[in-house]
Amino acid sequence: MKALEGVRVLDFTHVQSGPTCTQLMAWFGAEVIKVERPGVGDITRGQLRDLPDVDSLYFTMLNANKKSITLDTKNKGGKQVLERLVKSCDVLVENFAPGALDRMGFSWERIQELNPRMIYASVKGFGPGPYEDCKVYENVAQCTGGSASTTGFEDGPPLVTGAQIGDSGTGLHLALGIVTALFQREKSGRGQRVLAAMQDGVLNLARVKLRDQQRLAHGPLKEYPQYANGGFTDECPRAGNASGGGQPGWAVKTKGGGANDYIYVIIQPPGWAEYMKLCGRAELIDDPDWATPEARLHKLDKCFGIIEEWTKTKDKFEVMEILNKVNIPCGPILSMKELAAEPSLRATGTIVEVDHPTRGKYLTVGNPIKLSDSPTDVERSPLLGEHTLEILNEVLGYSEEEIESIRQSGAVGKIAEPVAAE
Ligand SMILES: CC(C)(COP(=O)(O)OP(=O)(O)OC[C@H]1O[C@@H](n2cnc3c(N)ncnc32)[C@H](O)[C@@H]1OP(=O)(O)O)[C@@H](O)C(=O)NCCC(=O)NCCS
Repeated sequence: MKALEGVRVLDFTHVQSGPTCTQLMAWFGAEVIKVERPGVGDITRGQLRDLPDVDSLYFTMLNANKKSITLDTKNKGGKQVLERLVKSCDVLVENFAPGALDRMGFSWERIQELNPRMIYASVKGFGPGPYEDCKVYENVAQCTGGSASTTGFEDGPPLVTGAQIGDSGTGLHLALGIVTALFQREKSGRGQRVLAAMQDGVLNLARVKLRDQQRLAHGPLKEYPQYANGGFTDECPRAGNASGGGQPGWAVKTKGGGANDYIYVIIQPPGWAEYMKLCGRAELIDDPDWATPEARLHKLDKCFGIIEEWTKTKDKFEVMEILNKVNIPCGPILSMKELAAEPSLRATGTIVEVDHPTRGKYLTVGNPIKLSDSPTDVERSPLLGEHTLEILNEVLGYSEEEIESIRQSGAVGKIAEPVAAE
């Protein structure tokens, strides 16, 4: 028995933000029915393809464990099928451009009429306000949610991060909203609207920077490189690799000189003596110019410079082993290549190899959230329309004659041949 078994999701999502949410729900045991446009499907099926004519990794890595039905929801027959789906599902998740579902004829009011228990969950770029009608992609959200203005080096441009905090981050927020609404429905019997705006999601993840913006009114941010190097304006600056917490940190080079031959090190007060012993600078352990956090604050770049002289003589894994033995937190900069090969991530199911009928084997990131009573089995993503017949018949209860008439109306496009058992 999986945690969300019995919950049926009408997955009207595309690209990344919405699919992240519904993939998680599928991993927790929900039955997720992805509705896609006949012949086209989710646009990501064909984006950033590494192999000709097969679903891209972009798609396959965001749509595991789902079923796919093709349905033209602007076609009269398609609308009728969608109505029946709305009546048969517990949750509808969508991340279309603002107003798209209303234009299809499925406003929140209409959905409530069809199914008062329905939880109707949306990702949008912005919440209500001047930008509510704007379309938004990942980097737009990173820029409008405060992440880009606070990421990068002080003398460089704003930077977006590789972690998809706008898309996948908002999908995660939405998933929490949905399960919370499902929990409330247990008591109220009613569905509700759930909205996660990408700007809000990014700002939530960048909350410590709004903390720093307010601290700035009462004095300099002592842990930022600007404290020693130049000063502040009235806006929270970019902090480079400085630690966002109370302990100074920086990424220092290690042996090898490659793009990822770095390790992130943190100087907690008790760690200073250990570092200086390792660096062969024992005289700085008790030197009043270096011995205390206050004394070091003005010259953190010099402190990390001394540490780097030592870390450059070892590879990042050796440094990690040595520092952990003396209780100093640190993090080697791991490349995607290294992560893909990491046995412990395979062992926990965080990286999973999946087999796909047209693509063959590929790696995906499995469920990062582990439930002891609801383990995740990662299954491949569906082919376009692979489950159209099954859903019409087994989920929606249409007879063979009715299915034939739906097919002839053009509502489902060409029905896919069943895939041979793997
Ligand atoms: C991501 C985004 C920018 C893409 O925009 P887009 O490619 O123009 O796609 P839209 O969402 O506008 O949908 C395009 C159209 O397809 C239609 N469509 C989608 N599925 C359909 C189906 N099964 N049958 C018929 N029509 C369908 C929509 O109704 C819409 O039609 P309309 O413009 O006439 O209303 C936009 O969807 C968006 O801003 N979403 C919200 C924020 C978000 O999630 N962004 C991150 C994505 S990772």
